[in-house]
Amino acid sequence: LYYNSILMKIAIGSDHAGYLLKEKIKDFLLSKGYQVVDVGTNSTESTDYPIFAREVALAVQRGEVQQGILICGTGIGMCITANKFKGVYAALCTNEYMARVSRQHNNANILCLGGRVLGDVLAISIVEAWLSADFEGGRHERRVNLIKSVEDSKP
Ligand code: RB5
Repeated sequence: LYYNSILMKIAIGSDHAGYLLKEKIKDFLLSKGYQVVDVGTNSTESTDYPIFAREVALAVQRGEVQQGILICGTGIGMCITANKFKGVYAALCTNEYMARVSRQHNNANILCLGGRVLGDVLAISIVEAWLSADFEGGRHERRVNLIKSVEDSKP
């Protein structure tokens, strides 16, 4: 499961509502040998989630990290923001199945979580499911390519 963790760089960010869960997930990732780039926030003081979604999305888009994790109160604001970035595929997951399939079928490169929605134990379990699954390609490749084909569409 964590065979390649030493080679994996993960960017992580949250707002105030996701801060405590971010710290827990960061500790978990470090304990498993992942390299973690923490873009903040650094306290429970009120802040604005798009700031951190942008930092993590850019790190993924530029290839500075392989994957990202974003946490706000619900995960929704992070997910909406991150998905504005070309080449970023953010998935809001509330259980292990969604997390696993977001990798296998959607090739999601950012996991979004809700700090006010999930307990810590479930959240870590979702992160584990996400990290241990890989894109399956095949028919899913065609569908992901169709997503890419609408990335440049104009209003
Ligand atoms: C902050 O109150 C909250 O709106 C934010 O954390 C997030 O849930 C937004 O989607």
